[in-house]
Amino acid sequence: MKLTVEKLIFGGWGVSRTTGKVVLVAGVLPGEVVEVEVQREHRDYMVATLKEVLSPSPKRIDPRCPHFGDCGGCDYQHIPYNLQLPLKEEILKEELKRIGQIPPEMVKPMIPSPQDYGWRIRLDLAIEAKEKLKIGFYRRGTREIVDVERCPVAHPLAERIMERFRLALQRHLILVAAVRRLEITISPDENRGHMVIYCLVHHDKKHMRQMAEELVLECDELKDVLIKHRALVFPHSVLGKGRTQSALEFSLNGIRILSYPGVFLQANPQQNRRLIAYLKKKLGDDLGEVLELFSGIGNLSLPLAPQASSWTGVERNRLSVKNANYNAQKNGIKARFVCEEALRLLESWQKEGRHCDLLLLDPPRQGALEELKMALSLNPSRIAYVSCNPSTLARDLRFLIDQGYELEEITPFDFFPQTYHIESVSLLRKP
Ligand SMILES: C[S@@+](CC[C@H](N)C(=O)[O-])C[C@H]1O[C@@H](n2cnc3c(N)ncnc32)[C@H](O)[C@@H]1O
Repeated sequence: MKLTVEKLIFGGWGVSRTTGKVVLVAGVLPGEVVEVEVQREHRDYMVATLKEVLSPSPKRIDPRCPHFGDCGGCDYQHIPYNLQLPLKEEILKEELKRIGQIPPEMVKPMIPSPQDYGWRIRLDLAIEAKEKLKIGFYRRGTREIVDVERCPVAHPLAERIMERFRLALQRHLILVAAVRRLEITISPDENRGHMVIYCLVHHDKKHMRQMAEELVLECDELKDVLIKHRALVFPHSVLGKGRTQSALEFSLNGIRILSYPGVFLQANPQQNRRLIAYLKKKLGDDLGEVLELFSGIGNLSLPLAPQASSWTGVERNRLSVKNANYNAQKNGIKARFVCEEALRLLESWQKEGRHCDLLLLDPPRQGALEELKMALSLNPSRIAYVSCNPSTLARDLRFLIDQGYELEEITPFDFFPQTYHIESVSLLRKP
């Protein structure tokens, strides 16, 4: 089927209405004429795969990665970086307007990532060995693994560790049956990384230890190898190290933090520092009493907490909470991190009639509508909302505006160059 692409929308899709029904296709640019093959037909739209670009946009460039198009990790390598930014900005504006009736003028220009390649310090790789060993990412919209030997968006050290792991696993192929997933994390400050192997409960511990020892010997940049399976609460160092010994160290806007293996960590550290600097400046020196929902290991909390009279962070992941409290104590920062579902903590604060001056939140993709409904009883005068999903952000902002909050500005930060993901910060105030 031949189509003309009208525009790009959230999710990495190009949209065409040439056929009378909306067709979504990835890997395209507005204005291009393309040949596609329909994969799935839904009531209102079809999903197609790109077969050929018949009339390419003059802006189109050659992707840097040999796996681009196959691998679901990147969406925009065919678009020059300086064009990805305004395209993402437009997509954000459209989502905010369509779902939340938020005027496009509220959106500031997108802050570019300091690096457009080599920025990703964390790789989450799927593994299988059916006909052949595959280590890589899922093909777009499927659970089919694309074997990936190169990954130019990854930090070069992460790529090197991935290569070493492949060689080690090839030598110990029998272990593949127990291995499900691999997480590699790098600290550019230390020039070292660690890996967590997610595996089945029943694996050959001695054999796994042997592979881990070989890996650490061969790869100077590898600090530790850890195992995590369902029966373990926290990842376990195959080399017998303690959590702090296996952790990676980062400098974060003037403080040193440790990141334990297996916790959530922002994947683009340079852009993360810019986001923190922005929050520090915009929120000012007098934050008052702060409640932070979805606090992780204290990435946003620790640099900002010295500007607050009190700081409470709530996070459901037990390891992250331990990590956050450790970092607060090590840096002499007064901040308290509670391991709880955000809604549960809000419920108890509501019952106790507590108040906060600033509500800071950085929810997962599904947003935080229920949490916000409950948080309003704490009567925060300011809200700072860090979002990774324009659609749920639009819904949540509409709710807050309807409840009387004034939206001051929305600033997008490009955390994920070459992908469709859009991170942004919204600042709101009670007039
Ligand atoms: C996008 S991350 C943000 C973490 C942190 N702000 C950072 O910058 O590293 C979202 C965090 O919310 C946590 N989380 C998800 N759902 C939660 C819930 N219902 N209650 C508490 N924490 C939750 C996750 O474990 C994750 O650490």
